[in-house]
Amino acid sequence: MSSVETTESPAVPGLCVLISGRGSNFLALSDAILDGRLRARIACVVSNREDAQGLIHARERGIATAVVPHKGLTRSEHALRLLDVITPHAPALVCLAGYMRLLAPEFIRAFPNRILNIHPSLLPAFTGLDAQKQALEYGVRVTGCTVHLVDEELDHGPVVAQAAVTVQDADDEASLAARILAQEHKLYAEAVEKLLHHPWEIRGRRVIFSNPSH
Ligand code: GRF
Repeated sequence: MSSVETTESPAVPGLCVLISGRGSNFLALSDAILDGRLRARIACVVSNREDAQGLIHARERGIATAVVPHKGLTRSEHALRLLDVITPHAPALVCLAGYMRLLAPEFIRAFPNRILNIHPSLLPAFTGLDAQKQALEYGVRVTGCTVHLVDEELDHGPVVAQAAVTVQDADDEASLAARILAQEHKLYAEAVEKLLHHPWEIRGRRVIFSNPSH
């Protein structure tokens, strides 16, 4: 069997990746799959914006894509359309990667503790937009990125993994965001690999891996 057939086998857990723009975190997940760091396959990349750059990269890699525009729809109506597209793929995990819309409870409840997000700060600091700018304005010396499970509140669910990035005196928003992004690309693939292939449970707000050394 070729390696392509292996990664497309239904036995390999599928991911649906939701994007709104550039899609570098999606590409990092795809790269990790291609070089064997992440045992998964990307079943579908879905965007609410048809001009999302990441869709072009997905198509170039032969990955199925879908556009589910949100304009003119309530959050619930949009969630139902998303579910129509995503449910048939039966994803093991839904990965938000620069997806710029709040998901309706209907969507979140359809995949309990199976939706992940990556955020460019050490949560709970600096939720929402422009987290890197917020970190610079606050004057923290250390910021970073967080992979977390998605619940019904913005940037709020249990933390799966975090990576710290030191703020340098010469940093502006662009330089800090670039160093955080490099960490995001590593962290997301590692977190997804761990969640898919190692037993874990949630205790309170803590995601506990029962076999952390593996
Ligand atoms: C990343 O910084 C991610 O943490 C945030 O949105 C940005 C998306 O970048 N949620 P990309 O589209 O993955 O390049």
